[in-house]
Amino acid sequence: MPRTEVVLQEKIADGLYRMVIKSPVDLSQSAYMPGQFLHFRVSDSIDFMLRRPISLCLADEANNLVTVVYRAQGEGTKRLSRLAAGDTVDVIGPLGKGFPLHEESSAALVIGGGIGVPPLLELAKKLRAKGTRIVAILGFQKASQAILIEEFKALAEVFIVTDDGSMGKKGLVTDLLDASMIDGISRYYACGPTPMLRAVKQALEPSGILGYLSLEERMGCGIGLCAGCVHKIQDNDGVHYVKTCKEGPVFPAQEVVFS
Ligand SMILES: Cc1cc2nc3c(=O)[nH]c(=O)nc-3n(C[C@H](O)[C@H](O)[C@H](O)COP(=O)(O)OP(=O)(O)OC[C@H]3O[C@@H](n4cnc5c(N)ncnc54)[C@H](O)[C@@H]3O)c2cc1C
Ligand code: FES
Repeated sequence: MPRTEVVLQEKIADGLYRMVIKSPVDLSQSAYMPGQFLHFRVSDSIDFMLRRPISLCLADEANNLVTVVYRAQGEGTKRLSRLAAGDTVDVIGPLGKGFPLHEESSAALVIGGGIGVPPLLELAKKLRAKGTRIVAILGFQKASQAILIEEFKALAEVFIVTDDGSMGKKGLVTDLLDASMIDGISRYYACGPTPMLRAVKQALEPSGILGYLSLEERMGCGIGLCAGCVHKIQDNDGVHYVKTCKEGPVFPAQEVVFS
């Protein structure tokens, strides 16, 4: 099985970890995209046969390293958090289709909720490198779960909301989506819990701004074999189900059907 070395593991917030690993592929030769995910096998035991999908948060091509940021919530991700620098981990990827980077985008809005924030960092880095102005709305439950704020501030104008008001404005990411926030924006990109994605799509649809949503479906194989990750889409072929691990997890917002 493909094993790679853990270079760094650190707790960065309440229950949240940053792990840097040697990339399982040569990044300089790979057409990786922000929004793709890595698929971790957390134990050789049969109980943990299913891999855990974690998004690429940052790619460091010069040193061939990838960073992931994740919440240790169930037994699998708790096991992942117990790995230390020098250990090895079984991981494949980057997998799936990520956020497309358009040449013509002069200003972009990135909207992240909770553990949906990390994949938007590599996206912001890539957009910034193209000269795109970035506005980031980052939402968290509370200040103790806020992550990657300084990293985003280095790349974007950042607006923070928390459910309890303990950091930034009290409320939801959609509370900030008024006319002044979207003025001049030509693309939006969102990642977060499904209710947030549904609300973002609903709020921005009338503006006509093209958007991309990263869907978080439970996954099995991660490579298109098991159909464990299907989501309803409406595109030129009509309404049908797609495998989010292979066709996504990122989709044009107008195609995503929330039932
Ligand atoms: C494309 C994608 C990218 C993701 N990126 C991140 C990330 O960057 N950081 C992060 O913290 N989390 C991310 N997640 C969610 C993460 O995969 C789950 O939190 C994790 O798999 C849960 O595993 P567990 O061992 O903690 O929980 P358990 O409850 O022990 O997991 C049991 C099974 O359910 C699956 N599962 C449970 N919750 C989820 C979930 N929300 N999404 C998908 N599968 C789930 C697990 O993969 C495992 O197969 C992502 C999910 C997807 C689909
Ligand atoms: S997780 Fe198996 S087909 Fe997508």
